[in-house]
Order: sequence, then structure tokens, then C-alpha cells
Amino acid sequence: MLLGDKVGIVTGAASGIGAASARRFAAEGAAVTVADIRRAKAEEVAQSIRDAGGLALAVEVDVADAASVAAMVQATVEAFGRLDVLFNNAGTLRPGTAVELSVEDWDAVMAVNVRSVFLGAKYAVPHMEAAGGGSIINTASISGLHGDGGAVVYAASKAAVINLTRALSTDHAPSGIRANAICPGTIETPPVARMMTQGDALARNVAAHALGRLGRPEEIAAAAVWLASDESSFVTGEAIVVDGGLRAQSPLGRLADPRPAHRRA
Ligand SMILES: NC(=O)c1ccc[n+]([C@@H]2O[C@H](COP(=O)([O-])OP(=O)(O)OC[C@H]3O[C@@H](n4cnc5c(N)ncnc54)[C@H](O)[C@@H]3O)[C@@H](O)[C@H]2O)c1
Repeated sequence: MLLGDKVGIVTGAASGIGAASARRFAAEGAAVTVADIRRAKAEEVAQSIRDAGGLALAVEVDVADAASVAAMVQATVEAFGRLDVLFNNAGTLRPGTAVELSVEDWDAVMAVNVRSVFLGAKYAVPHMEAAGGGSIINTASISGLHGDGGAVVYAASKAAVINLTRALSTDHAPSGIRANAICPGTIETPPVARMMTQGDALARNVAAHALGRLGRPEEIAAAAVWLASDESSFVTGEAIVVDGGLRAQSPLGRLADPRPAHRRA
């Protein structure tokens, strides 16, 4: 098991990528705190982990709130005795150009997506130091790597997560703490399912990924488990792209038909 004896926190763990990651962390032997602003849903995920024989604690948290994040970390250490892994995964998206977006929308998204990573590190690092090291994983996005029109604050916040990750990795490397980000492509989660009902959004998204499909939450969880585990012990400060070939593909599509001449009917 990749995470035997480790203790981890996953935020945004009531749904989507976070829920899949909490389940996988537990299946790999970690004791896991299932943290989310939706307490009842977090409890459902924690119960499903316990039903499968894992160790899980549900905690209600608002990742944008300092006292709430401090309490989440404290509850984890009280329940499981230590902290090795923090997966800052909770996030939110409010669409809009700079003209359309309200100042309140800007501040809310930056708080949930970026302040959360700062707060998580602030309260988790001392416990990781006490444990002799640890792994911080932050969910960024491919939206943090290119200018995603129509979602300016989301794009800005995810770019900030990537560079904050680099700064954290530098500061805490001497304590044996690694920090990495994951940049997912489009992943089939409840908010994405809602967005994909609009016009040709689904077809355009599928075509944008070289693998010709959207990703599954479990495919991001697999990257998170690797980053949480000692298998990635020499990896820090990175933004790992898990996007089904979205970034690799030219917006022009293929320049030539890749099939050999005799197979082009
Ligand atoms: N699904 C995608 O295509 C995709 C792509 C790139 C990045 N992401 C990122 O992945 C992460 C997870 O997204 P998802 O698609 O699984 O969405 P999701 O809605 O299924 O899960 C997000 C969870 O975060 C929780 N949450 C929201 N605000 C919170 C707060 N203030 N405090 C605590 N919990 C809060 C929600 O209750 C929800 O359970 C986000 O950071 C998102 O930006 C998603």
C-alpha cells in the first residue's frame, strides 16, 4: 500500500476529485480527513470509506476561513496523532470577463482557491515538521497555464496556486516537506456535468483532449496518491499536468492525416 501509516487531509472531499482522492488515499492505507463545507456530504464519503474498511473522519471546513482551517488541522492531529499529507483541493469557479465580474466574485474566488492554500500550509506545516516531513498537494488547473477567457479570476487564481506551490516547496524543503500542484484537464465532476449541458460545450471539450474524452476523478486521484507517497520523493515544486493531451494538441488539430497512405480510403 502506497500510503500505509500516513495521515492525510483532503479538502473539497465531499464530491468529484476530492471524494475520489479521499477514497483512494484510504484504500492505499492512509487515515484520511474528509473535509468540506458540506458537512452531510463529507460524512457520507467518510462513512463509505469506513464501510470499505478504511479510517476516515469527516470535518466541516470553510477553506477560506483561517479559524476553520486551523480547526480542521487540529481535529486531524487529535484523531490520528500526526499529519503527513495535505491535499488542498477545494475550489470554485465564477465565470466572467473583467467587466462582467463583480469585485465580490473576484475576492470570493481568490479566497477559496488561493487563500485556502496559504492557510492550509500555515497550519499544516508545523505538524509535518513534527512528523519529520510531508507532502502538500494543491489542485490548480490547466486554466492556470493559459489565459482562459470568460473565467478571468479562475485563471488568475489557478496560476497563483502554481506559483504559491513553488514558493512553498522552496521554503519547506529543508524540513522534508514537498509541495506540488496538479493541473487537471476537464474532469467529469458535478459542476462540469452542469457546464457541459450548455450548447456544444461537451463536444468541444471532448475534441480538445487528444485522448478524445473527459477525464475521470479517479485519474486525478491517482496522481495525487503518487504525489502523497514516497514514490515521488524527489519531486517538489512541480505542476503536474493530467489533461488527456489537451495542452499537447494544437488548436489547429492535426496538420496531416496520421494514417499510412494505403489505409486512407
Ligand atoms: N472538474 C474539472 O474539470 C476541474 C479541472 C481543473 C481543476 N479543477 C479543480 O478541482 C478541484 C475540485 O473540483 P471538482 O471538479 O471535483 O468540483 P466539485 O464541486 O465536485 O468538488 C468541489 C468541492 O469543494 C467544496 N468546497 C467549495 N468551496 C469550499 C469551501 N470554501 N470550503 C470547503 N469546501 C469547499 C464543495 O462543497 C465540493 O464538495 C477544484 O479546485 C477545481 O477548481 C477541476
